[in-house]
Amino acid sequence: MTRKWWHDAVFYQIYPRSFADANGDGIGDINGMRQKLDYLAWLGIDAVWLSPHYPSPQYDCGYDISDYCDVAPEYGTLDDFRAFLAEAHARNIRVIIDFVLNHTSHLHSWFIESRSSKDNPKRDWYIWRDGDGDNPPNNWQSTFGGSAWEYDPTTGQYYYHFFLKEQPDLNWRNPQVVQAMLDVARFWLDMGVDGFRLDAVGTIFEDEHLPNHISPYRSVDFLRNEVEVQLGKPRTVPEKEWERLFVHQVNLPQVHDIMKALRHLTDEYTDRVLIGETADIPYLGDGHDELHMIFNFNLLRDAPFTTDWIRENLTKQYAQLPPGGWMANTLNNHDSTRAISRYDDGTAPIPRAKLSAALLLTLEFTPFLYNGEEIGMSNFEVPHRDQMRDTLALLMGDILINDGHPLDEVYPAMQKMTRDRCRTPMHWANAPNGGFSPEGICTWLPVHPEYANGVNVADQQADHQSLLHFYRTLIALRKSTPALQRGDYREWDVDNDRLFAFVRRTDTQICAVLLNFEATAQLAYIYLPMRVIFSTHGRSGALLNGGVRLSPFEILILEG
Ligand code: NOJ
Repeated sequence: MTRKWWHDAVFYQIYPRSFADANGDGIGDINGMRQKLDYLAWLGIDAVWLSPHYPSPQYDCGYDISDYCDVAPEYGTLDDFRAFLAEAHARNIRVIIDFVLNHTSHLHSWFIESRSSKDNPKRDWYIWRDGDGDNPPNNWQSTFGGSAWEYDPTTGQYYYHFFLKEQPDLNWRNPQVVQAMLDVARFWLDMGVDGFRLDAVGTIFEDEHLPNHISPYRSVDFLRNEVEVQLGKPRTVPEKEWERLFVHQVNLPQVHDIMKALRHLTDEYTDRVLIGETADIPYLGDGHDELHMIFNFNLLRDAPFTTDWIRENLTKQYAQLPPGGWMANTLNNHDSTRAISRYDDGTAPIPRAKLSAALLLTLEFTPFLYNGEEIGMSNFEVPHRDQMRDTLALLMGDILINDGHPLDEVYPAMQKMTRDRCRTPMHWANAPNGGFSPEGICTWLPVHPEYANGVNVADQQADHQSLLHFYRTLIALRKSTPALQRGDYREWDVDNDRLFAFVRRTDTQICAVLLNFEATAQLAYIYLPMRVIFSTHGRSGALLNGGVRLSPFEILILEG
C-alpha cells in the first residue's frame, strides 16, 4: 500500500457556523476560522474537514446548498475562503470540504428552473413523477419523516426528496447532472482544496421503476418511537425494519459508477482524498478505485466502551476490510451526541473522556476529531423551542404533538434528540458568550454555560492537566511514535480480559496500549520489559516487566 498523507493525519471537523465569529454577528465565519488556525496548528492536527460553507437557506443547517461554487454570505466571500486555504496550507494544515451529492436546496437555481415547467431544460435534473391518482407516485418515505414525494402545483407533478422537502434529490441518471457536479468538484480542486467529505453517498440513486417498499412501517413510526424511547417508553419498532423501508432508495449499484467518476477526477490532482459518509466497505471499490476512506461509525456507540465490545467490534471491522482498505475513526460529529455526555455516568466524565480520546488517538486508521471535543464540550439542552435550529427535531416534535402528547412531555425529548445539542458555539474563553461572539450578541444557537466552568480553550491552554493538553500530548505522541502512527494492530494478552490492551508494531518499533475502562483497579501481566512513554498516573519513563496494577481509568502506553 502506498502511504499517503491522510493515512498519517489527524483530522479535525469544523462546524463553520459554530467555530469562531470574527465579525461579531453571532454566526461563525471564515475569517473566524482564519484567526483560529494558529490554535489548530498548536493542537497539532494535520487537516480540517469543514461542514458545508456554501450559501444555504439553512433548512438543514447548511446541508441544503443553494450554490455549490460560492461561500455563504454570512460566512464571508470566496476570497476569504482562498485566504483561509492559503493560510491553512502555510501551516501544513490540509482542508477538505463537505460535498453534498444527493440533493440541492429547493432554492438552488437548478431546482427553481426545474420546477418552473415540464419542458424546462433542467426539468430532468431532479426526479419528477406523476401521482398515482390523488396519491404520491409510490409509498417511499423520506428519512426525515413523511412521504418522499412532494406535490408541486406549478406543474401538477411530484418531486422526490430523501431528506427534507427543501432538499430535492438530484437525478444522477442525467449525464448533465453528473457533469455539473464533477465541474463543482473541479472548481474546488482547482482552487486547491485537499479533498471532499461526501455527504450521504448511499442515497444518490433510487430504483427507477419505483417499486413500493413492503415494510409495514413508515419513517414517522421510527422517529416517533425514537422520541418515545427518550420519554422512557419501550422500543416497539424493530430497528432492522429501517433497512427494509429504504431498500429501493439506498445503496443502488449505480452509486459505484459515481464514486468511480469522482475518484477518476480526483486522481487527476496530486494528493487529494475522498472520504464517504458511509460505513459501507464496498464503496472502497475493487482495487481501491472509489473512496479512499469510509467511516467507522461504530465508535459513536451510545453505551460506554467496554473491553469486550471494542475487541469484538475491531475484530469484525478488520475481518471485513479489504487489504489496504482504510477507515476514519471518530467519536463525535455534528449529527451525534457529544461523546463526553454519552459516556458520562455521573462519576468520572474527564477520565472517561480521556480514555475514549486515547482509544481514538492510538488505534490504527485515521482519527477524526470534532470541534469542542478537545475541551470536553458536552451536550446542551437548548432551553426554548424557538431557539432550536435543527429542523429534524422540530419535525419530530410536531409528530408527537399531532399524536396528542402534551408539549411539556414532548419538549424534553426534543431537547435530547435535537442535533443542536452538539452544534452550539465553541468556547474560546471564560468570557461572555464563551468568547465566541461579543457580549450582548444573540448567537445563532445559545452558548452552553459550561464555558464558565473551565470548559473553554483559554483556561485549558493555561492548565497542563486539562483535557485539551491531553489531546495535544496524545496527538504529538502519535505523530512522533512510528508504531502508533503507522504500526499494525494486534490484540495483546495481559492475562486480564477486562483490560483493553493492544500492540501497534512497525518493523523497528513496538508499542503497547493499555486502557482500563473499568472503575476498579485491574492487574496486567507484561511479559517483556517495556518503557512507559505515556501515563495518566505518573509512571512515565519507568521500565515495566511482570505484574502491573492499573488504577481505575488508567491509560498506559509502552514502548518495547
Ligand atoms: C448527512 C449530514 O451529516 C446531515 O447533517 C444531513 O442532515 C444529511 N446528510 C442530509 O444532507
